[in-house]
Amino acid sequence: MCGIVAYIGHRDACPIVLKGLKRLEYRGYDSAGVALLDSSKEMKVYKKTGKVADLENEIGSRDTSAFTGMGHTRWATHGAPNDVNAHPHLSGDGEFAIIHNGIIENYGALKEMLKKRGHEFKSETDTEVLIHLIEEVYKNNPVTFEEAVRMSLTQVVGAYAIVILSKKDPNYLIGAKKGSPMVIGIGENEHFIASDATPIVEYTRNVVYLNDGEIAIIEGSELTIKTVDNTIKPPYITAIEFNLENIEKGGYEHFMLKEIYEQPRSIMDSFRGRIHLPDARITMAGIDKYEDKIKNIQRIVIIGCGTSWHAGLVGEYLFEDLARIPVEVEYASEFRYRNPVIGENDFVIAISQSGETADTLAAIELAKSKGATIFGVCNVVGSSIPRTTDAGAYTHAGPEIGVASTKAFTAQVTALILMALSMAQKKGTISTQRLREILNEMETVPEKIERVLKTDDQIKELAATYKDAKNFLYLGRGYGFPVALEGALKLKEISYIHAEGYPAAEMKHGPIALIDEEMPVVIIATQHSNYEKVVSNIQEVKARKGKIIVIATEGDTHIQEMADHVIYIPACEEVMLPLIATIPLQLLSYHIAVLRECNVDQPRNLAKSVTVE
Ligand code: F6R
Repeated sequence: MCGIVAYIGHRDACPIVLKGLKRLEYRGYDSAGVALLDSSKEMKVYKKTGKVADLENEIGSRDTSAFTGMGHTRWATHGAPNDVNAHPHLSGDGEFAIIHNGIIENYGALKEMLKKRGHEFKSETDTEVLIHLIEEVYKNNPVTFEEAVRMSLTQVVGAYAIVILSKKDPNYLIGAKKGSPMVIGIGENEHFIASDATPIVEYTRNVVYLNDGEIAIIEGSELTIKTVDNTIKPPYITAIEFNLENIEKGGYEHFMLKEIYEQPRSIMDSFRGRIHLPDARITMAGIDKYEDKIKNIQRIVIIGCGTSWHAGLVGEYLFEDLARIPVEVEYASEFRYRNPVIGENDFVIAISQSGETADTLAAIELAKSKGATIFGVCNVVGSSIPRTTDAGAYTHAGPEIGVASTKAFTAQVTALILMALSMAQKKGTISTQRLREILNEMETVPEKIERVLKTDDQIKELAATYKDAKNFLYLGRGYGFPVALEGALKLKEISYIHAEGYPAAEMKHGPIALIDEEMPVVIIATQHSNYEKVVSNIQEVKARKGKIIVIATEGDTHIQEMADHVIYIPACEEVMLPLIATIPLQLLSYHIAVLRECNVDQPRNLAKSVTVE
């Protein structure tokens, strides 16, 4: 939610900032803006409703030369998406400029206080209040720019990743973080600040992930990191783990399509190095560390949001099925505001692609405060969740840029399968023979997905048939149920067609009333434990004249007699079903969205990293 990028160094800042904003556009695209500061102490601010391309048009051929600059791409929270509410925001005297990702929760009280002191505000944003506060502190105290920022932040409640420029000190760039992500890139006599490492990787691989409560002060080419209470911290420099090609489209029309096609590799990267077939062993350092606890574990609680919650639901089936551990799967947003019964004997698994989702972070804090052990399953290295949890496993899907999650979901499921197997082995609930069978099967999954991807043309035709449908129903049972939920979510978020996922047997308790000859019903009916039951559900849909699209196991010709369309996937172990059956549903939603001329990678109202609750 909102992307920030800033540069100070020997190059022209504006093109670096604009390019960085394009890389961060997945975080929000309601408006974009830049502030540029040159040594003559002139601050140029350009901002525009819409995308970074609209901002570029607005800037046109104006002079943008400056060695210091910052930019923002917005996902609106406080105030409508318009030019005035777009960042950067200026202080009343125009001396300071700020960009911000997060929410200042006490902005109302601060605004009232500042109004009483004569401040006038142009926008409806919480961010403008913060820069006026900095101006007020600077004006009334004998302090430097940096001290004014630090002192102001002690008065702020909420989440922020901010960058501030001052006309008084054009040689300075100040960034600060609490609850929203911030990465500092360290180049040769130049520094970068961004919400994630994607705007930085083409200039340097050396980065520092700022911690909550830290401030980065860049003066010329010197970086100093301090805490809000003024303690100097030595920067901990790490290397970016991905390459430039991982964040470019590589010939695909959309990031989403590229990421769907990357799944054979991303799944392999998620299990490679963790599976040892000869001795049927799984190495997951985070799980191994808790071996004793796992043997006596009473309960697992899985928390996540959206697609990550769907992966959690797969996890519930896996942990119960394989490791015989009771599991509850919770929406992080609900969990955090309930009074959940949770304690030292609970093992909480937090699942998040971005590692920054505000609700998931808050749910982790709550579970932690009750003494639970927290395990993170995250994709973005160095993000907040892996740094908050006791242990964890990265999913190794690589950067996911398309707003709709695809390869991150299958990588999460891969990690959960391995975790469930590892726990099962530790608890003795699985035989070595069975474990070996499943691990062998895991190794075949990338190739099976390659085969599913070959059905792309058939799915494209199917998409053309149903692109104008008003509603879709997705049904599945067992491991097919989370797949149905995920298929429905993919369709609604990128094509804006209403879609619902349901356990197939639940259909007759309500949704069956929706079925008529206009209703496409996608049913996961592979030859697994619930096959016969799902076939009965298909008959029920057929009797109401629904249009039946079935995901079936290769070789199942019987199903053709009942279905209007069949998409075949290779036979697989039931636990692998979510990895394979999800792929055609991702492709179906992708092609429908393209045919409806929707913005596939940046669907309306959404942002990739939901850092507000
Ligand atoms: C759906 C989607 C969202 C995210 C959700 C959680 O395609 O992308 O539903 O899954 O916002 O995000 P993370 O996994 O980053 O915590």
